[in-house]
Amino acid sequence: MIPTIPVIVVDSDGGFRKAVRQHLGGVAGIQLVGEAENLVAAQELLLKTRPRLVLLDLSTKPEEALSSAEKWRNEFPGLKVFATSASKKPDLILSAMRAGVSEYLSKPLEVNELRTALDRIMREIETEAVHSQGTGQMIAVFSKKGGLGVTTLSVNLAVALAAAGQQAVIADLAFDIGDVAGQLDLQPEIIMSDVIDKHGAVDSSRLQASLLRHPSGLYYLGEKEAAGGADAITAKQLHQILTHLRDSFQSVVLDLPHGFDSHTYEALQLADRILLVATAELSTVRATRYALQVFRSLGYDEHKVKIVLNRLSRKDLISEEQFCETVGYPVSFRIPSDYRSVIEAVNGGEPMTMGKLKSGVAKSISQLAQQFISPNGAGPAS
Ligand SMILES: Nc1ncnc2c1ncn2[C@@H]1O[C@H](COP(=O)(O)OP(=O)(O)O)[C@@H](O)[C@H]1O
Ligand SMILES: [Mg+2]
Repeated sequence: MIPTIPVIVVDSDGGFRKAVRQHLGGVAGIQLVGEAENLVAAQELLLKTRPRLVLLDLSTKPEEALSSAEKWRNEFPGLKVFATSASKKPDLILSAMRAGVSEYLSKPLEVNELRTALDRIMREIETEAVHSQGTGQMIAVFSKKGGLGVTTLSVNLAVALAAAGQQAVIADLAFDIGDVAGQLDLQPEIIMSDVIDKHGAVDSSRLQASLLRHPSGLYYLGEKEAAGGADAITAKQLHQILTHLRDSFQSVVLDLPHGFDSHTYEALQLADRILLVATAELSTVRATRYALQVFRSLGYDEHKVKIVLNRLSRKDLISEEQFCETVGYPVSFRIPSDYRSVIEAVNGGEPMTMGKLKSGVAKSISQLAQQFISPNGAGPAS
């Protein structure tokens, strides 16, 4: 299973863009997410929409276009480029291939040629996803007590991973509350049981169709508000859903509810990493100790469970040292307190880790995200 492939077209000719729009409209698995008239606009559009495929015109400035193609492929790992041109000059075709272009399509566009090229690229992307199986990492964000910043961290972490060019998905497993969609300004329409077929198994194409795409490139899975669908799926079905996601994405981030029910337990078991969110407050210390005790009984070690101390401020009544001593566990990551930035981002529907990192919170979470990006852009860092 792979999610729908987002595509942009870069061409100064409005008529050609219209033709592309029409051709792509009917192709399953492909979605045109933007159009640009020139290379400068294309660069901006790439940052904004994070496409997997670019249809790039070579008619006007072929050399500049090809050097952009090369640059983009380095900047956005996994990006594919189709060149479009009326010229059949062997030199140009050769240069295009050298720049890493996957297909060279003739202008005017021939529908069959385009369809064949799209089929080929979809298969290629699918194969890449299959080959990355097992390398997909699952990061569960959890705290036994609500209100400490689990949703804020999971959303901004997932966006930071996507912004760094990873194929990332966030799943909101706090079914009834659905805070993640609000922070991403997305409107989910499904309930989780919609992805289950009549035999009780997960239908991968329905799951794929249920994923929403955020402008950062992040994918989202979650229920519509107050749908009450959590009871409608079993822990085993949730296990299947999560393994599907892990097989298709480099990173799966889970926003978990605050209890140890069967769904949460399943997610925690599957997770490669658990980020246990805490704050330097007495009431939190108790909840954190309890969670750590449960994790210990499940056999999770310090490699799997990392404490994130959130909302750090000079006004904290207990120090990090005292906190560590009391819970008997080290702190791995720190995020400062900055209520204003957090609330502004939530109200504006734009996560802090998208675009320019303005706040200390955004910078800390982006740094944390770096820990989950290996040099080749995939797999968990140790
Ligand atoms: N680093 C931070 N600084 C200040 N306020 C924060 C920070 N992180 C989260 N918050 C605030 O804490 C509250 C709870 O955050 P949320 O992410 O919804 O927690 P949870 O999902 O654990 O219930 C929210 O009002 C949020 O804006
Ligand atoms: Mg929450």
